[in-house]
Amino acid sequence: MSAQTIDSQGNALTYATIERDAGLRAALDMTRPDIIDAVSQSGLKGRGGAGFPTGMKWNFCAAEKGDLKYIICNADEGEPGTFKDRVILSRFADLVLEGMTIGGRAIGATLGIVYLRAEYTYLRPHLNEVIKERRKRGVLGTSIMGVEGFDFDIIVAMGAGAYVCGEETALIESLEGFRGEPRNRPPFPAVAGLLNNPTVVNNVETLASVAAIFAKGVDWFKAFGTDKSTGYKLFSVSGDCEKPGVYEFPWGITVAALLEEVGGEGAKAVQIGGASGVCVPAREFARRLAFEDIPTGGSVMVIGPQRDMLDVAENFLEFFVEESCGQCTPCRLGNPQMLKAVKLLKEGACPPKFLADVKALGQTMMVASKCGLGQTSPSAFLSILEHFGDEIHDRAPSA
Ligand SMILES: Cc1cc2nc3c(=O)[nH]c(=O)nc-3n(C[C@H](O)[C@H](O)[C@H](O)COP(=O)(O)O)c2cc1C
Ligand code: SF4
Repeated sequence: MSAQTIDSQGNALTYATIERDAGLRAALDMTRPDIIDAVSQSGLKGRGGAGFPTGMKWNFCAAEKGDLKYIICNADEGEPGTFKDRVILSRFADLVLEGMTIGGRAIGATLGIVYLRAEYTYLRPHLNEVIKERRKRGVLGTSIMGVEGFDFDIIVAMGAGAYVCGEETALIESLEGFRGEPRNRPPFPAVAGLLNNPTVVNNVETLASVAAIFAKGVDWFKAFGTDKSTGYKLFSVSGDCEKPGVYEFPWGITVAALLEEVGGEGAKAVQIGGASGVCVPAREFARRLAFEDIPTGGSVMVIGPQRDMLDVAENFLEFFVEESCGQCTPCRLGNPQMLKAVKLLKEGACPPKFLADVKALGQTMMVASKCGLGQTSPSAFLSILEHFGDEIHDRAPSA
């Protein structure tokens, strides 16, 4: 099986067609409010998973007083089944750094930080090389592109090797040298982030998209996708399909159409959005990948008919038990209870009362956990119980 890195027609990714520095040049002809307005007009939503409107985030940060602001590129990419940021950083690092520079201009930051997943240490020399070359070319450093007073530089900082450090406030704690534990929000990072200064945190792909939007225009970008999910998106496709890899599709593609492209037509389910996403059964394959239907940071795991759905749930829950930072009770205690229920179900020995309690606990976790990890870790378990009840409950008790 070969890993693909293509769009739906087998062409190179759109990022390969974006002229380097064209976006920055266009942005520097605009006022700061106009840059943010263009990002808002483009409809760009964060590609890291939550889908927060990028223009709005930049606006919050730009509105904060203070000379010291930061823009952080979240390159922690720890969601199971996600590997598209690695491809962008390997092949289109210039666009990511350019997007950060445009963001820095828009919000008034002088420093950008790429927070790089610890397992991607091998990418660090490459990123530092691209940064060095950008400084030499005058698109990083002082008076960028000859614009007096526009000083902006970028450094790379290594991640701490924990999934939760991808959560933006845990990431900031980790950057400050503390344990990577999520903070209470509010205040949000755009108001009080790194070292208490206003900070924008954006995903790698979001920032590459910014460079593309300014290079090719807002209307060009909006021509892809749907009304509420503009643009195109990279999907990391893995699992039981003939052609796993990184694919580019416009938002709005149906699960069925995506499966056809990747040779996964026989799937009985697809896990979308990683371990923290939702499990979509075959009867719902007409649904669309878009913020108005199934939102996702891009992980698509194809689950073939031979798979035991309880194995799938067990695998995800073991991950969450391991990765929970343990700071808040619903997540620290809830994930092990769900895992216990899955193990009992596998043995055909889960008391119905316990299962009902654990389902209710999952609902509680989704509202009571402190960060996105505990708020989303029950999703796969609950959707597997909902859609695969026959497969789960029909098994005989183990001897
Ligand atoms: C447990 C957890 C892990 C996360 N990991 C990542 C990650 O690896 N990369 C990422 O961009 N966002 C990750 N996020 C989302 C970030 O908190 C944040 O929303 C995102 O970086 C914002 O960027 P965007 O608006 O451009 O998507 C994670 C969130 C949670 C709760
Ligand atoms: S939800 Fe989980 S990961 Fe998030 S703060 Fe609570 S214990 Fe930590």
